[in-house]
Amino acid sequence: MSTRRRRLQLNVNGAVHTVEVQTRKTLADTLRDDLGLTGTHLGCEHGVCGACTVLVDGRPVRSCLLLAVQVEGARVETVESLGGPTSLHLLQEAFSAHHALQCGFCTPGILMSAVAFLRDHPEPTPQQVREMLAGHLCRCTGYLSIVDAILAAARALSTARQQP
Ligand code: FES
Ligand code: FES
Repeated sequence: MSTRRRRLQLNVNGAVHTVEVQTRKTLADTLRDDLGLTGTHLGCEHGVCGACTVLVDGRPVRSCLLLAVQVEGARVETVESLGGPTSLHLLQEAFSAHHALQCGFCTPGILMSAVAFLRDHPEPTPQQVREMLAGHLCRCTGYLSIVDAILAAARALSTARQQP
């Protein structure tokens, strides 16, 4: 197994970080181990559960299936970019208000997919939200709250856009 290392410059959440990693290291492990961004969770580690979803150049990707070396030069967004405890993103507020957090393990990946989805679908139907969520496994199986939260977030984002 290769142990080759490479020094990389990674653009994550708007900041450029220099890391030295083994060329076989995944983006998920690099975010967590080298950048301390532990909001990105690892479930299955083979592309099935969606827990590790982050955005690369604005599109949702499974960070367990990408190598860190593959995203050099790209723009990576993790859940830490959305908001913190004192300044939640409207989507995070909606998850809280609609009890969609449950155990919370799958939540970061769902939030990142939902952020990208809502950019493309500002007025989604419940069916479109369900189809988007098909790529995410929630072991609490409380999907109804998650669908409600994403629909509420779409409404809140629409209202926010209309404000001067
Ligand atoms: S940990 Fe990446 S899809 Fe499950
Ligand atoms: S909230 Fe528990 S796995 Fe999704």
